[in-house]
Amino acid sequence: MQDRTEVNSRIELRYDKQSELESNLSCGNNLSFLELRYGDKILDLGCGKGLESIEAAKLVGDSGTIVGLDITPKMLRVAEENAKKHNTTNINFIVGGIENLPFENESFNAVMSNCVINHAQDKSRVYREIYRVLKDEGKFVVSDAVTKSPLPESIKNDPVQWAACFGGAVTEEEYLNSIKNAGFKVVEILKRREYLKNGYAFISLTIRAYKAG
Ligand SMILES: C[S@@+](CC[C@H](N)C(=O)[O-])C[C@H]1O[C@@H](n2cnc3c(N)ncnc32)[C@H](O)[C@@H]1O
Repeated sequence: MQDRTEVNSRIELRYDKQSELESNLSCGNNLSFLELRYGDKILDLGCGKGLESIEAAKLVGDSGTIVGLDITPKMLRVAEENAKKHNTTNINFIVGGIENLPFENESFNAVMSNCVINHAQDKSRVYREIYRVLKDEGKFVVSDAVTKSPLPESIKNDPVQWAACFGGAVTEEEYLNSIKNAGFKVVEILKRREYLKNGYAFISLTIRAYKAG
């Protein structure tokens, strides 16, 4: 694969612009599958403008906490403005990358992520990090894009395509193996929608797994 610094700067460039637009960047609805409880501590990976973080913050109440992590500082500035508009005070937005989470082991009751992990070069590492930061009874719900067949090398090696939720997408089998290899024994597919992206067969998946299996 190509230089990661170049990919990350393309990602920031793309999402800098997206932060100013009204467009919907999600590929699923994770909250309905998370069964959040009052007081839960939740991590939203690649929280973007923070809309799902804000909904989650309402569900966990004042004694709960949401941490929204994103690599694009401008997205987080918009997320903070949105949280203010909704009078939400139990969210912390943090700049960071999903492959190296700045949290201690077993910090969260649940992790959610919507259309983000396809951007990561090492999906196995992201899922190992999710496993590490989850409490023993914790779970994740992730929506993401995968492919039916491997993409051509020319697309996989193009940082612009990688930033466009396209070039970093791997096959469903490869993606699910990353999760299982991280330690999650049972992976539930909650939603599955097939579509064409730039002429290639893609699948939008919403998946859930419990750390305890
Ligand atoms: C398609 S948007 C989704 C935003 C949000 N989850 C939503 O559903 O509206 C992808 C987000 O992931 C962030 N992102 C991409 N790669 C990342 C990485 N390696 N680490 C952290 N955030 C990342 C981008 O900055 C962007 O905000």
